[in-house]
Amino acid sequence: MTARAFKLNDIPDLSGKVAIVTGASSGIGLETAYLLARRNCTVYIAARNPEKADRAIADIQRRLFPATQGVGEIIYHHLDLLDLKGVYESAHRFLRDHDRLDILVANAGTAFESIDQLSVDGYDRSFATNHLGHFAFITTLLPLLERTSGINGGDVRVVVTSSMAYQFAGNNGIDFDSIRVKSEGKSILDMKAAGRRYGRSKMANILFTQELSKRLEARGISGIRVNTCHPGSVGDTGLGANDALGIPQWFNGMVHKAVGTVSFTPLEGAMTQIYLSTSKTVVEKDIRGKFYVPVMTWSMRYHYSTEYDISRALKRGDHEKLWNYSETALREALQR
Ligand SMILES: NC(=O)c1ccc[n+]([C@@H]2O[C@H](COP(=O)([O-])OP(=O)(O)OC[C@H]3O[C@@H](n4cnc5c(N)ncnc54)[C@H](OP(=O)(O)O)[C@@H]3O)[C@@H](O)[C@H]2O)c1
Repeated sequence: MTARAFKLNDIPDLSGKVAIVTGASSGIGLETAYLLARRNCTVYIAARNPEKADRAIADIQRRLFPATQGVGEIIYHHLDLLDLKGVYESAHRFLRDHDRLDILVANAGTAFESIDQLSVDGYDRSFATNHLGHFAFITTLLPLLERTSGINGGDVRVVVTSSMAYQFAGNNGIDFDSIRVKSEGKSILDMKAAGRRYGRSKMANILFTQELSKRLEARGISGIRVNTCHPGSVGDTGLGANDALGIPQWFNGMVHKAVGTVSFTPLEGAMTQIYLSTSKTVVEKDIRGKFYVPVMTWSMRYHYSTEYDISRALKRGDHEKLWNYSETALREALQR
């Protein structure tokens, strides 16, 4: 897009559309769900904690009140990304019960997880949550996304929330060898390694997006646009606020408050994925397989979203290897 601000009022009317936002029980995902519902989209909050999801739904409804017309329904859908078989079943429940899905925002994420625990299927927890779970969820929902593109004028959007932290993965691309390695380490000194693991999962988000987009194009499916983004540096969310590395809660809280004063609000952080999942410009300019970042004004507020060139950073291109690795992980989980 040109350097024109993308504002709340630029979000088009989404009447009749259905969206899923993963990790919408807090932070950037909650605001994404709010902004979609505010424009009359039916929104499924895909989350693992029903109480937290209910609180998120109540919060969104309270903010939309007293409007009863022109706002969408908000519904809980159970999804725990740490369990691949469960993810597959969650996607199948959605396939069974719904006849359309226009927007899928794969926003859920975790950072700075300890490595003394692996996922249900035995993978690094950041990689499992941020990439493998979303790989299983999105690829299982593909038939419904394809069907929807046939009935909504070829305008289905998939947006995967990545991060500029993909750079923490290092220059050698995805380190596949350590994804299943557990360690006894649990200390603040593990921070750097935890950052690298988070970076690897966020690099996987980008590679997956580009590979999915390429595969859809190769199959002649032009009505599904898949993109990825960095939401900006966003304060006051739950990211990294777990105590997995033994970091005291009061310290985490302090860091979050400090970051919050010099970063985007969660609502501003939602704007890049909202832009990619709703803006008409995405269709007009046929934006697909791209990595978008927010641009801020001099006052450090969200202004607009623009493409960020990652071609050099990703020149090793583990795209196909990652796809095969993820397919195998899902197949093995389903055989258990
Ligand atoms: N905040 C930033 O500055 C920033 C910067 C770059 C990228 N991002 C990305 O933005 C996205 C949203 O993060 P946020 O900052 O809004 O943090 P957040 O408030 O912690 O939101 C993360 C969401 O993901 C959910 N989640 C975590 N593990 C899950 C699992 N196994 N199954 C289902 N849902 C799970 C969380 O639910 P629970 O409460 O149940 O754990 C929560 O709703 C993440 O992908 C993050 O990597 C954030």
